[in-house]
Amino acid sequence: MTAPYDALAAVHAAAFASAGPRPWSAAEIANLAAARGGVLAVDAASPVRGFALARVAADEAELLTLAVSPTARRRGVGAALLDAVIGRSAAAGATRLTLEVGAGNEAALALYRRAGFAEVGRRSGYLAAGPDGDALIMLLVLEPNPSI
Ligand SMILES: CC(C)(COP(=O)(O)OP(=O)(O)OC[C@H]1O[C@@H](n2cnc3c(N)ncnc32)[C@H](O)[C@@H]1OP(=O)(O)O)[C@@H](O)C(=O)NCCC(=O)NCCS
Repeated sequence: MTAPYDALAAVHAAAFASAGPRPWSAAEIANLAAARGGVLAVDAASPVRGFALARVAADEAELLTLAVSPTARRRGVGAALLDAVIGRSAAAGATRLTLEVGAGNEAALALYRRAGFAEVGRRSGYLAAGPDGDALIMLLVLEPNPSI
């Protein structure tokens, strides 16, 4: 199945409307997903409610984005997408998954902490001025899971 990249771009724009990165185009998402090591997890519902993108290089994986439509939050979609990325990154040989998150992004921080991520670094003023504009680097050590 071809991923509905236009729909994913719309989800990304809606998810990050109030803050965060500029919206990613359908072509950018498609290119990242198709690039070597690209991992794309898409919510199975129609219309699509969220997606996650990661990149695996050797034993390192990086979560590039995780976006859930504002109207579909707190229903487990983000946690399921994160689980999919964790499983598929481990299956691709990664032993560590890192990500960058705004220090003031309480929803994402709660989700990542619940999944077992630990804060391993902070970039002051990386996203904006003030402490909420700091970027936190988080790390999850992955269990080998060749069956996924
Ligand atoms: C962060 C985000 C992906 C979470 O998606 P979601 O589908 O709402 O998350 P889930 O429903 O799977 O939540 C799983 C758990 O995360 C935590 N969590 C999620 N949203 C939360 C919030 N607003 N406040 C506190 N905890 C929250 C809770 O522990 C939640 O479990 P619970 O609902 O049983 O309490 C979503 O809010 C989003 O797209 N935000 C904008 C984009 C973004 O910031 N992405 C991350 C960039 S690094």
